[in-house]
Amino acid sequence: GFSSGQSLHSQQEAVRRVTVIGGGQMGSGIAQVAAAHKHEVTLVDVNSEALKRGQAYMVKSLKRVAKKKHSDDEAAQSRFVDEIMGRVTVSTQLQDAVGRADLVVEAVVEKLQVKQELFARVSEAAPGTAILASNTSSLPIGKIAEGLEEGQRRRMVGLHFFNPVPQMKLVEVVRTEEADAQVVERAVAFVRAIGKEPAVCKDTPGFIVNRLLLPYMMEAVRLLERDVASPRDIDTAMKLGAGYPMGPFELCDYVGLDTIKYIVDGWHKDGAGLKGNPLFAPSAKLDELVKSGRLGVKTGKGFYDY
Ligand code: NAI
Repeated sequence: GFSSGQSLHSQQEAVRRVTVIGGGQMGSGIAQVAAAHKHEVTLVDVNSEALKRGQAYMVKSLKRVAKKKHSDDEAAQSRFVDEIMGRVTVSTQLQDAVGRADLVVEAVVEKLQVKQELFARVSEAAPGTAILASNTSSLPIGKIAEGLEEGQRRRMVGLHFFNPVPQMKLVEVVRTEEADAQVVERAVAFVRAIGKEPAVCKDTPGFIVNRLLLPYMMEAVRLLERDVASPRDIDTAMKLGAGYPMGPFELCDYVGLDTIKYIVDGWHKDGAGLKGNPLFAPSAKLDELVKSGRLGVKTGKGFYDY
């Protein structure tokens, strides 16, 4: 009947093979989560060392999960890890790696030109039905897709994961003006299938989370610049007064001050619709910290020492 035909149709459409491009922090996390939820995953990077690090990172993270799941059974723990890692292939050959993908997720460096060139190559080698997705935090999806053919642009969406990917439940699904409704639906279904919660939004700078968080973080830095309170007092105030799990300075240090500066400066200069917006005006304090190499947790120093 009609309904069984429909479910067969949606089965055919369901994403099974996922190619993740970029084996860094985000890409390896996305690969891990997709494999843990029974997808066949290929992880691609230009750098084979990055792939080794990515694999080691996934194994380490999965071992922690395995320990909780099978607390006093070491054999079951390694079976759990091996089974999931058995679904992950790594590759430095882009063309081959996307050839059979249902979904390609790009998580390479945050540079427009690199992403544009990458999608030009991906869209040639990937099947004509594959969903093309970018994990960009700050670049417009429409801009990344600009040079592609119309049929390819209709299959392009944003899939914006959060760091650390295995722990963070949210994925923003970014719907460009040109994206097919069906492609967006399949992307949403994929997000649910890997145990995450989708939030669909339009292709606007910062999507939902960063559009609200970056002004908040910048305002916290400006409070500090005006000497209203210390980072510690501002963080305590927001944790206990607003119920946030981290204060704004803890969050800045965690995200990385260079990353924050890069996003905010990009939007202030030419970010679609945000040009000159005072919410994203440069901060002398932030610039000074970045210049002196105090980038946050990853360098051992930021607003706080670690
Ligand atoms: P990362 O620097 O840890 O990893 C990037 C990887 O991409 C590196 O291993 C590099 O070798 C590889 N790469 C560079 N160019 C490539 C190419 N042309 N082909 C294949 N591989 C290439 O970066 P990270 O933090 O994982 O970020 C990746 C993307 O995810 C960026 O677009 C970033 O904006 C976005 N993102 C980052 C978040 C974060 O908190 N770090 C959160 C959400 C999104």
